[in-house]
Amino acid sequence: MGKKIIQKPRGTKDILPEDQRYFKYVQNVLENVAEEAGFRKIETPGFEDTSLFVRGVGKETDIVGKEMYTFKDKSGNSITLRPEGTAPVVRAYLENGMQSLPQPVSLYYFSNFFRYERPQAGRYREFWQFGLEVIGDKNPLVDANIIATASRIYKKMDIKDISIQVNSIGCSSCRPKYIKFLKQYYAGSLNKLCADCKKRYKTNPLRLLDCKNEKCMTLQAEAPQIINNLCSACHEHFKLVLEYIDELDINYELNPKIVRGFDYYTGTVFEVWNGRDGAQNSLGAGGRYDDLVGLLGGPKAPAVGFGAGVERTIEEMEKEGIELVEDRNVNIFVAQLGSKARKKCFKLLNDLLDAGIGAEARFDKGGIGDQLKIASKLGVEYTLLIGQREAFDETVIIKDMVSGNQEVFPYEKIVKVMSKRLKKD
Ligand code: HAM
Repeated sequence: MGKKIIQKPRGTKDILPEDQRYFKYVQNVLENVAEEAGFRKIETPGFEDTSLFVRGVGKETDIVGKEMYTFKDKSGNSITLRPEGTAPVVRAYLENGMQSLPQPVSLYYFSNFFRYERPQAGRYREFWQFGLEVIGDKNPLVDANIIATASRIYKKMDIKDISIQVNSIGCSSCRPKYIKFLKQYYAGSLNKLCADCKKRYKTNPLRLLDCKNEKCMTLQAEAPQIINNLCSACHEHFKLVLEYIDELDINYELNPKIVRGFDYYTGTVFEVWNGRDGAQNSLGAGGRYDDLVGLLGGPKAPAVGFGAGVERTIEEMEKEGIELVEDRNVNIFVAQLGSKARKKCFKLLNDLLDAGIGAEARFDKGGIGDQLKIASKLGVEYTLLIGQREAFDETVIIKDMVSGNQEVFPYEKIVKVMSKRLKKD
């Protein structure tokens, strides 16, 4: 009996060649939108010191409490595979002295992240996320601009079924007062809450508002809303954010239940939902985090950002029937008959590739019929054929795969001829 095949870890996936088309397209759109808006790319390590996330994201959050891949390395340091990108970017901003650059600093990333979550549709243990972070500007225009950029991303991809859910969760001056109200409201009904919410009541009461349990949702309906309990600075800031996004064609809704699962948020928060799954599988999310730079040891600096899930974006494109034409770089198949021809074809293939012309061959196939079948399957525009006679004559047959026409050219002209023809196409 053969050995059992080793399988990928639960919650991970292979991004197969046929998936790459969507993956590359989405990456391209996201990065272009960011670059065109003046963001510059940053890459941070795949793992960080655990304390970065404990301090930055918050000890009592689901991510830090339940979902991190944390281990001791061989030197005994506590290491965590990055579960999100905002804290690492702020760490890099501080560590690389970006406070001394003209502010704000606008950065973007396209990276893989790791969370030990229960795998289900659209929820993986390793996933890709594109993120935007603007550090060093407190103006509400920047919040509005991040929301506008998020909205532009989906428009560029022709994703239609989305709405942006917006809220403000106040600051360190008004939120504690609101949390007191909220706890008072829930105090008499603790026995009606799910087990998780009973814990949240003590450790992270804001999260009571986004529990999806039916019993908890009934209580949420009457809960006091933070939007009515903002201090005047937060109220004014949020009012301006909404006024600015009202200037643009953005499909948004005010949603008092959006509280986000990270401790670093302050003020404006938002999630991008599709029309079917709502909060269940947000396509993206973001908000302001004015205290994070300070929390990570830097001088206080306001900041705002957004993260889009790449797999969920691709899944949404597929659900909305957005098709991409396969964009292969190979338009030529090189076919051979006989051993002398095989050598010539091997040279021809390399001459084409050296000239930057994509080409493929299958040297294990002897019959012309088999090779032409492969060429049609690959969808190339031309097949270049060298048989025994052509090998002897130093010529090549060009077969147009659409019309079926065949022409003969001297070998030494073929690269030039093909280069011209492909350019015209
Ligand atoms: P987040 O809401 O945790 O925010 O993640 C942002 C997006 O990443 C989600 O809306 C979702 O599309 C995708 N995502 C998250 N977890 C998974 C998963 N397990 N499987 C597949 N996709 C997932 C953040 O991470 C913040 N750092 C965003 C941010 C940037 N806020 C300010 N700047």
